[in-house]
Amino acid sequence: MADVFGNVHLGYVVVETEKFSDWRRFGRDAVGMHMDDGLDDTVRFRLDDNECRFLLRRGPAEDVTALGWQLDDHDTFDEVLARVTGHGVPVTEGTDDEAALRGVERLVRFPGPNGLFQEVFTRAHTGTAPLQMATRAGFVTGESGLGHVAVTSTKPHQMRGYYNTVFDARLSDYIDETISGVKFKIRFLRVNERHHSVAIAAVNRLPINPIRTRVQHVNVQVADLDDLTASYQRVKELGFDMALAVGQHTNDKELSYYAMTPSGFEWEVGWNPIVVDETTWEPTTYQGISIWGHTPEGQTIVDKLAQFRNGVRSLLHREDDVRALAGAGIPDD
Ligand SMILES: [Fe+2]
Repeated sequence: MADVFGNVHLGYVVVETEKFSDWRRFGRDAVGMHMDDGLDDTVRFRLDDNECRFLLRRGPAEDVTALGWQLDDHDTFDEVLARVTGHGVPVTEGTDDEAALRGVERLVRFPGPNGLFQEVFTRAHTGTAPLQMATRAGFVTGESGLGHVAVTSTKPHQMRGYYNTVFDARLSDYIDETISGVKFKIRFLRVNERHHSVAIAAVNRLPINPIRTRVQHVNVQVADLDDLTASYQRVKELGFDMALAVGQHTNDKELSYYAMTPSGFEWEVGWNPIVVDETTWEPTTYQGISIWGHTPEGQTIVDKLAQFRNGVRSLLHREDDVRALAGAGIPDD
């Protein structure tokens, strides 16, 4: 079949955590999402009509464990599954319970790089209750999907190969950045009009991953600048740690801040990123992630030591790149 690019949208994110009360305050009171928590050992957040955009399940990981991708139609669904199984990678049908928790009709799961499961579905259920959330003008989702995730990897070329094989992901651009004296290259991949749905950060030429969690940050996009400002104030007033203050990114021009979630990965709230025009887009390389701002707040020597420890640990741990789907990887242009 033809390219599935454009028929793929980040639909939901699954988080495993023990910190439900902190997450309720973080997701509902600070970020300003709609919360549903009637079920045992489950908290869900909505951004829009979809019944579930974030599913929190009880467990020890304190991490994102799966990404759910909405595929536009059954042809796309069959094509993606044919690619996965055709490369010898097994897929698992989600149970009815799992589908219900995620607010989708049916889902299929297969392994993804760095231990992050990938789930695909075609039909999402619509929430029955009206949205009740502090974010007044709402979130930008639709064709662009719920936002994006950024992951760190010791095998960025393989990870790019994986998303290319499975979803026909396209490279939007690169950013070269130095953080705490360490040089990173970040590769931004899109699967639809959103500038990136997955960003892959890697330390240059070293098999080191300084981030404990499978996902370094999750991003959601608010429709109105006032909601960005208000949520920034709520995050601070409620006592959650701010990782990076408000700033603007060089490549997609998104204005955003990064807060620390109760699970220890970061949460970016953004506004007004550019939308990619496929007829004119050319990948480039930017120097630095920000035009201005995004200054680190409250990072301590303890945080830096933790990153160093994670980096050393990553040298001993072999990152699963799902080689069958990554192929030989995609070298940088
Ligand atoms: Fe981001």
